[in-house]
Amino acid sequence: MEDVPLADLAAEHGTPLFVYSKAAMLHALAAYQRGFAGRKAQICYAMKANSSLGVLQLFARAGCGFDIVSGGELARALAAGGEPSKVIFSGVGKTRAEMKQALQAGIGCFNVESEAELDVLSAVATQMGLKAPVSLRVNPNVDAKTHPYISTGLKGNKFGIAHENVLTAYRHAAKLPGLKVVGIDCHIGSQITETTPYLDAMDRVLDLVGEIEAAGIAIEHIDFGGGLGINYNGEVPPEADELWVHLLAKLDARGYGQRKLMIEPGRSLVGNAGVCLTEVLYLKPGEQKNFCIVDAAMNDLPRPAMYEAYHQIVPVTQAADHIPSARYEVVGPVCESGDWLGRERDLRVHSGDLLAVLSTGAYCMSMSSNYNTRGRAAEVLIDGGRAHLIRHRETASDQMRSERLL
Ligand code: LLP
Repeated sequence: MEDVPLADLAAEHGTPLFVYSKAAMLHALAAYQRGFAGRKAQICYAMKANSSLGVLQLFARAGCGFDIVSGGELARALAAGGEPSKVIFSGVGKTRAEMKQALQAGIGCFNVESEAELDVLSAVATQMGLKAPVSLRVNPNVDAKTHPYISTGLKGNKFGIAHENVLTAYRHAAKLPGLKVVGIDCHIGSQITETTPYLDAMDRVLDLVGEIEAAGIAIEHIDFGGGLGINYNGEVPPEADELWVHLLAKLDARGYGQRKLMIEPGRSLVGNAGVCLTEVLYLKPGEQKNFCIVDAAMNDLPRPAMYEAYHQIVPVTQAADHIPSARYEVVGPVCESGDWLGRERDLRVHSGDLLAVLSTGAYCMSMSSNYNTRGRAAEVLIDGGRAHLIRHRETASDQMRSERLL
């Protein structure tokens, strides 16, 4: 990766090990920056995709704001040098304590997802003698054509305010003493590989902006969420700048081209910038299936178990010629049949070999767990020829630190 051999990193830091490329992250960000050149735009990295401090620091230094979904994420964003005014707070279930924490920090906007939340936020802000900047998240009822668990803009989803109720909700927000309406937002799903759902959602949102402003409520910014997909296994999503050529053309055509724009990309900034290195522990041939048992598991890489997601798995070093190819189920050590990383993979490997699970920069480390009391993996960020250890491997005592015996 960049100028550092992955096998050397595995030897130094052990496996499983996440390795990220700074250049790949900045390259992905540059596509958005190109797309928005000459516009008033703020990129808020959706840090749920990968919230490791070193990664956040890189995006903060590159001028990004952050899309957060919890008080914990706010603390991380600030610890990494994020500017509070560039933080937006999404999510259907913000607690009063989280609202207070975010108001104290002076975040840029709350993306509110229900009328009930408007009331509570106004009450919390009023008590603090403040006005909370708000945007309402619209559920535009468009099909993002992605996995049902990561589709968020359809009527049956828990997210956002149904677009037919949005105007009423804005009228309500405008009357509340503790709120200041600043924007509108939507997010229709994740791993979206087509342009059309974005264009459809944009039409819905712009229709609403027209109605809301006609009712005398000014909308300063329009936030189109994140969701752009990446190539895991031959998918061909549009590049970020290509997608925005189409979206900006629509904005211009409808007269909103000079509005402040916000976006919340996560996966497309980090997904393809990371790999997870794992060592082959045992090969276990079977009558029906052969198993390749590796030292990474569903606690490190939860996406296959959760969404039947596909990640390419490739050997880091060439196997010796005498090793035959065989078809394997690549599985981890966790005590569940759901603990698989790849199915029916043709590999030439033997125990001790190093494999790389690709496209694991997004929603892997941030979704990892300690199931089976497995310590979370270490993480390294590569910058040219330099390797920064940005997280040490979690020890058993790290895991037990917050616990007490009876
Ligand atoms: N904004 C909001 C309000 C979101 O809910 C999300 C993701 C994003 C932005 C960023 O979306 P992205 O650009 O990363 O697609 N764990 C799943 C993905 C869940 C996405 C949830 N929301 C996975 O591993 O595929």
